[in-house]
Amino acid sequence: MSEEQEYLVTEPRNHVVQFTLNRPKALNALNGNVVSGIAETLNAARDNDDVRCVLLTGGEKVFAAGADIKEFPTQTVSDILLDSRTTHWEAIRSFPKPIVAAVNGYALGGGCELAMHADIIIAGENATFGQPEVNLGIIPGAGGTQRLTKVVGKSLAMKMILACEFIDARTALDSGLVAEVTPKETTIERALDLAETIASKPPLAVRIGKQAVLKAFDMTLENGLEFERRAFATLFGTEDKAEGVAAFVEKRKGDFKGR
Ligand code: CAA
Repeated sequence: MSEEQEYLVTEPRNHVVQFTLNRPKALNALNGNVVSGIAETLNAARDNDDVRCVLLTGGEKVFAAGADIKEFPTQTVSDILLDSRTTHWEAIRSFPKPIVAAVNGYALGGGCELAMHADIIIAGENATFGQPEVNLGIIPGAGGTQRLTKVVGKSLAMKMILACEFIDARTALDSGLVAEVTPKETTIERALDLAETIASKPPLAVRIGKQAVLKAFDMTLENGLEFERRAFATLFGTEDKAEGVAAFVEKRKGDFKGR
């Protein structure tokens, strides 16, 4: 891996693109270039039919220790309000295909928020999650107060955000923040395996399944169930559904086109 490039993006392989944060000396702090790089990568992946899932990682040692604090001293209120990063975070938030995050080491501040933008987090045993922005006299600014609270509940979120205490991988697993904990040497391999499994499934069902699960976070149960019913019915009209059912009956592997 080159030290000069602040992030690395692979070509699609088995329909998966891997984005790797690569600023190890700054613990992968998310500067403007990196955040815009993630958004650009996702925008390109959204429009590329060959990409069905994205793997997001910081490598074996550290995921990301947050926004780049060294950019803060010169930033004014209007800089923050007008910052293009808001648009970039929105591109990450609204990315319609699944994102799997492989988290080793620190996922702090914006790093924890970035991981929480993923649909599934696989954590290494050495993973540490935290939202320590209050230490800097600010609060999380990329969704941390909302997403963390919805996932781990009020009390743990308050402890992490107000007292700035970190949680380890096991606590993250117990609280539902991550899906699995693996030895740190195999975190990326496991996350890639999962991403490739997802990418082998009927793409429209995966995409609409992601949408439907996310509706649970911002809809009433009644509205969410209504969304699910309509989405379920819509998928009955797809070629992938015909292929999936035929493949089951004929005892063969389905060949899905996302149509
Ligand atoms: N921004 C910029 N540089 C960072 C950084 C960050 N978020 N986190 C670490 N670094 C840099 C350090 O300055 C240091 O660089 P130098 O060698 O040039 O001094 C290098 O990475 C290694 O860091 P440490 O020497 O501090 O390593 P450590 O092992 O002693 O401590 C740590 C690790 C506990 C993660 C500590 O670095 C730390 O507390 N980092 C800041 C975490 C933080 O506050 N994150 C929130 C940022 S604000 C935010 O994210 C806003 C938002 O919601 C979008």
